[in-house]
Amino acid sequence: MSLTNVLTAYRRTKAYQDWDYRHGLYGKPDPLLTLPFSRISDWRRWGPLGKYIWRSRRVPGWTRGPEAARLAQASFALPEHAVVVELGSFLGCSAVLLAGARTLRGSGKVHCVDPFDASGDDFSVPIYREIQSGGPTLRSRFEDNLERAGVRNRVEIHPFRAEEAVETWSTPIDLLFFDGHQSYDVVMTTYQAWSPFLKPGGTLAIHNSRTGYRQETHDGSARLVEELIRPPRYENAELVKSITFARKAACASASGPA
Ligand SMILES: C[S@@+](CC[C@H](N)C(=O)[O-])C[C@H]1O[C@@H](n2cnc3c(N)ncnc32)[C@H](O)[C@@H]1O
Repeated sequence: MSLTNVLTAYRRTKAYQDWDYRHGLYGKPDPLLTLPFSRISDWRRWGPLGKYIWRSRRVPGWTRGPEAARLAQASFALPEHAVVVELGSFLGCSAVLLAGARTLRGSGKVHCVDPFDASGDDFSVPIYREIQSGGPTLRSRFEDNLERAGVRNRVEIHPFRAEEAVETWSTPIDLLFFDGHQSYDVVMTTYQAWSPFLKPGGTLAIHNSRTGYRQETHDGSARLVEELIRPPRYENAELVKSITFARKAACASASGPA
């Protein structure tokens, strides 16, 4: 039996599947043992962006694999001095990807909006609390993770809920990433408040939005995409793992109705 067959058989066992489910649900960082290998493969596969894709692997969070690479690429592709807004940062896994790409480009800012208090929808809160328990504050861990990844100077922190932060926001946005509260009502309110700031031609990215996904209090993003992210307002919608990427149509007004 080849090594591949052994690994495939192992992955089919209940023990592995339970471990894998918990690993994903709790946003575990990659195991230390695998890091030297992924460092090489990330570099070979993603070029310079691989450095930040690899650094984000050490941060607990939920942006992994192909969607991590695509998010970094979306940030990298933006014009000079790009304005990126992330709603929901937790410990900085996706912020490292967004800000790493802007570091490589040498300009732009990533605005991270999160109350850093482990609040959110009923499905997520017990998970956030378990990850938070006993350690330093989420805010200080977030900042440490950004420092360690070498991207702190590309990030501006807004320690508020998305619904509050928007009240003082006025800048047109190049890339808007939704990954905060996941309940339908809050996702829709947040979308209505923030999406008018996305520039025509700008990129919308919505995490946890696989079509048909249903989980009480946690399926707001999937329902948002099903209901609103389509032509003529959005073009080129594409699902990568669980993030939907779409381009706001050039003819859509920057401040028109969502
Ligand atoms: C799913 S986590 C973000 C994960 C992160 N983007 C990553 O890649 O790992 C959601 C974060 O949004 C925060 N949050 C909850 N409600 C929010 C709100 N109304 N506005 C902004 N952030 C919120 C949560 O406390 C949590 O830190």
